[in-house]
Amino acid sequence: MAALLSPGPRTATAGSTPQKGSNPMSGKPDAKAPVTGDHLEIKDSRTGKIYTVPITDETIRTADLKQIKVNPEDFGLMGYDPAFMNTASCRSAITFIDGDKGILRYRGYPIEQLAEKSNFLEVAWLLRTGELPTQTEYDEWQKQITYHTYVHENIKRFMEGFRYDAHPMAMLTAGVAALSSFYPTSKDIFDPRERDIAFIRLLAKMPTLAAFAYRHVKGMPYVYPDNSLPYAENFLSMIARMSEPKYEAHPVYAKAIDILFILHADHEQNCSTNAVRAVGSSHVDPYSAVAAGVAALYGPLHGGANEAVLRMLEEIGDVKNIPAFIESVKSGKGAARLMGFGHRVYKSYDPRAKIVKSLCDDVLRVAGLTKDMEIALELERIALSDEYFISRKLYPNVDFYTGLIYRAMHFPTDYFTVLFAIARTAGWLSQWEELLLDKEQKIARPRQIYTGYAERHYQAKVDLGHKIKK
Ligand code: CMC
Repeated sequence: MAALLSPGPRTATAGSTPQKGSNPMSGKPDAKAPVTGDHLEIKDSRTGKIYTVPITDETIRTADLKQIKVNPEDFGLMGYDPAFMNTASCRSAITFIDGDKGILRYRGYPIEQLAEKSNFLEVAWLLRTGELPTQTEYDEWQKQITYHTYVHENIKRFMEGFRYDAHPMAMLTAGVAALSSFYPTSKDIFDPRERDIAFIRLLAKMPTLAAFAYRHVKGMPYVYPDNSLPYAENFLSMIARMSEPKYEAHPVYAKAIDILFILHADHEQNCSTNAVRAVGSSHVDPYSAVAAGVAALYGPLHGGANEAVLRMLEEIGDVKNIPAFIESVKSGKGAARLMGFGHRVYKSYDPRAKIVKSLCDDVLRVAGLTKDMEIALELERIALSDEYFISRKLYPNVDFYTGLIYRAMHFPTDYFTVLFAIARTAGWLSQWEELLLDKEQKIARPRQIYTGYAERHYQAKVDLGHKIKK
C-alpha cells in the first residue's frame, strides 16, 4: 500500500527554547557555559553548595538535579513524584488543556468547533498529522479505514472463545493484543508505511472488535462490517442489525456517536495514554501498546465514571430525594462524592460537558425523557447553586451526561468504556507515534526510593524438598 500519510511537522520538540548553558538533548548542564537565562538557584544544606538549574517552558529537568551530590559516589538528587502529580513526561504538540479556563484544543482547534464542524475520522487524521486533511487526503483516509474493517476469521473465533458473561473490556483488551500476532511486520515501527497501516487497521478494526464483544455478551451472531456505511453508522449496524439486509441507524444516534468519539479522541497525558507511551517506549508493536491503553482505561478510576453516575442516579431514585442526597455528599456521611462532578484538571465547566449536555437533549428528544435525565438536570441545577460546589470549583465533567446518552441508546452499562476506547484509539496512536519520533525519549524507566531491607543472609524457613549439591 502506498504511504498515505506524511508525518506531520516534527513538533515534538517545537517550542523548546533551550537556555544558554544547558544541553537540551542530554539534560545535563554545560559545564563550560554559565546559566544566564531563567534559572533556579538551589542551596544544598548538606554541603552548603549552590547549584543553578535552567528553567525552560516553566519547567526544570529533574536530570539536572543529579549534579547535586554529597560526595562523588552519591547517585545525585532525584525528584519524587508518585502519580506524576507535577512531572511532565514528554513534550507534546497534540492536545492543549487549560483547566482553569475550561479550554480543550486538538492541534490548536477548539473542541467546540471540531464537535460542531468535523467528524471523527477527520479528527483522527488531525491528531496524527497536526493538520486538517485536504480533500484528496481525507477521501483516501476514509476509503482505507472503511476497507480495513474486517478482521481475520481466526480473530472472530478467538472472540467466540470467551465465556458468555465476559466483560466487553476484557474481550477488547485481548482482541487488540491478539491483532499483533496477525500483523507481524507491524513490529517494524520505524518504517513509516508500517505505522500508516497500523493506524488504519486499528482505527478500522476497533469498532468491529467492540461490536463482536457486544454481540457475544448478548448471545447474538456477530455482524460483519458494512463498508458502504460511514464510520459511526457502520459501528451501529454491527451492534444492532438483525435479519434486515441493511441497517439504517437513526441519524441523531449516529451523529451523537460520532461527536462523542470526537470528544473522547484525546485528552493529553492521562492514565491510559501514559500506559501506551510507557509500553510503546519499549518499541513493541502498536497493537500491544494500544492493548495496554485499553487495559488502563478498563479501570474504574479512569474509564468507569459514567457508569458510576448512572448508579448514583438510580440510588437517588426521585427528584424529591436530591436535597437529602446533596446534604449527604457535603457532610461526607452518605454518598462519598457527587459522581460526574469535579475534575483533576478542569476547575471550571469541562468544555466537553457543555457539548454532551446539548447532545443528550437531542438524543432524549428521540428516545424520550427518562427519569434519570430529570434527576440529572435537577441535580446539576442544585449543585451549581450550592456554595460547597461553587467554592471548590466543582462543575459537571464529561461523564455526567455521556452515561445518560449511552443508556438512552440502550448500551449496557459495562459497555460504556468500550465506546470510550474506540474513540481514544486515535489519541493513543498519535501519542505513540509522537513518542517514537521524539529524539529525547528513551525506554520509560522510573527511579525508586528503596524502602526495603539492607542486605541479609538467606536462611530457609521451610523444607523445599531438595538439597543444593556441592
Ligand atoms: N463531589 C463532592 N465533593 C467533591 C467532588 C465531588 N464529585 N470532587 C471533589 N470534591 C471535593 C473534595 O472532597 C475536596 O473537598 P475538601 O477540600 O473539603 O477536602 C475538594 O472537592 C477537592 O477535591 P480533590 O479530591 O482534591 O480533587 P481531585 O482533583 O483530586 O479529584 C476527581 C478530581 C475527578 C477525582 C473528583 O472530582 C471526583 O472524584 N469526582 C467524581 C468522580 C468523577 O466524576 N470522575 C470523572 C472525572 S472526568 C474523567 C475524564 O476526564 O475522562
